[in-house]
Amino acid sequence: MIEGGEPLVGEVGVSGAKNAALPILCASLLCPDTLRLGNVPHLNDISTMLRLLGQMGVVVAMDGNEALTLDSSGLSNPFAPYDMVKTMRASILVLGPLLARCGEARVSLPGGCAIGARPVDQHIKGLQAMGAEIRVEGGYVHATAKRLKGARIVTDMVTVTGTENLMMAASLAEGETVIENAAREPEIVDLANCLIAMGADIVGAGTDRICVRGGERLHGAAYSVMPDRIETGTFLCAAAASGGEITLTHTSAALLDSVIEKLREAGCVIDGSTDSIHLKAPQRLKAVSLRTAPYPAFPTDMQAQFMAINCVADGSAVIRETIFENRFMHAVELIRLGADIRIDANTAVVTGVPKLDGATVMATDLRASASLVIAGLVARGQTLIERIYHLDRGYERIEEKLARLGARVRRVR
Ligand code: EPZ
Repeated sequence: MIEGGEPLVGEVGVSGAKNAALPILCASLLCPDTLRLGNVPHLNDISTMLRLLGQMGVVVAMDGNEALTLDSSGLSNPFAPYDMVKTMRASILVLGPLLARCGEARVSLPGGCAIGARPVDQHIKGLQAMGAEIRVEGGYVHATAKRLKGARIVTDMVTVTGTENLMMAASLAEGETVIENAAREPEIVDLANCLIAMGADIVGAGTDRICVRGGERLHGAAYSVMPDRIETGTFLCAAAASGGEITLTHTSAALLDSVIEKLREAGCVIDGSTDSIHLKAPQRLKAVSLRTAPYPAFPTDMQAQFMAINCVADGSAVIRETIFENRFMHAVELIRLGADIRIDANTAVVTGVPKLDGATVMATDLRASASLVIAGLVARGQTLIERIYHLDRGYERIEEKLARLGARVRRVR
């Protein structure tokens, strides 16, 4: 329940990146030594992944100062069941590591989700190029490989988890693997840095050409997960829309140049240091058009949040979503709050209105729920957001962090 109208003011810390932590947790499957991880966010998706690894035989423990230890020496069950995978598509990230470590894997097909079909054909194509025998049957990917062999792989499109799966598998393959058309997201670089700490030989992470020289074995390591750039961007958008002034710590402006550029274009004053970002919002934002595309272009995971900003900005903006086929579900909910949005296929035209009015709205997916929170913070009166389990998948204690910045928000049963 959000009582709108309060500008966000103050300082809050950003948590570790969900989309870096998820593949890094799967990297623990690659070797029997213990992987010790810091700055892992406490999110539902992380708990789901830990349960999935646990039922495979990975021993997960918390050690004193908030670090997570994963010990896969007892890995005995290279199987990812449908009832766990259906709640979190990122489970597909166990496929590459299991194949590389155990020579076999049975992983449920993730199935679609609200924002799109989300196929994994590129993951399969790449692993087959490395010599894996893969058949899809009964809703499961059945994969076997005596030993994966290095290969040159060109993915048909840029795929974040596809690149991550192949990079992890290649780190134990025989010979060199080159991944062309690789995704360049910072989370790929974070995973590569963790794999390198475990002894992998990876060059080019962060570029569209990644070379991996496979080894016989990796070893344990201690690693700290990077800050969550989407949580960072979400809070910047919330402060911008509410006319506030905030400082975000444990994060870096370098992770989201394209978002910061758009926020400046909208009239915000932003300056960043190595581990914090400060934003001061203008009295009224200017509408800003955008087009989502793979990193370093504007991230699709920030599209919904920026649509919320444009609902209360001066002028009209055109938003093009080029990554997913159905990522405008927040638009109809924003319209319930009084927004002026017209959708035509993957293009939305948003015309700013003087005010939004609170109402009951429904979250449909993770980032859509974030855009409803932002709209609720600026709408007149009360906004009740239902199905906020979507929100808890990707934001750690969001209502506590927002309340610390002066928002009137509470979780109601
Ligand atoms: C990752 O999903 C993120 N999830 C998503 O974040 C993010 O929106 C997305 O990358 C794009 O940046 C994680 O990292 C866990 P893709 P992913 O493979 O890897 C098509 C969030 O909010 N495609 O880069 O699944 C696909 O359909 C989530 O935290 C194929 O056709 O996305 C999409 O249109 C939502 N075949 C496009 O490529 C494949 O084999 C990009 O998908 C793989 C992908």
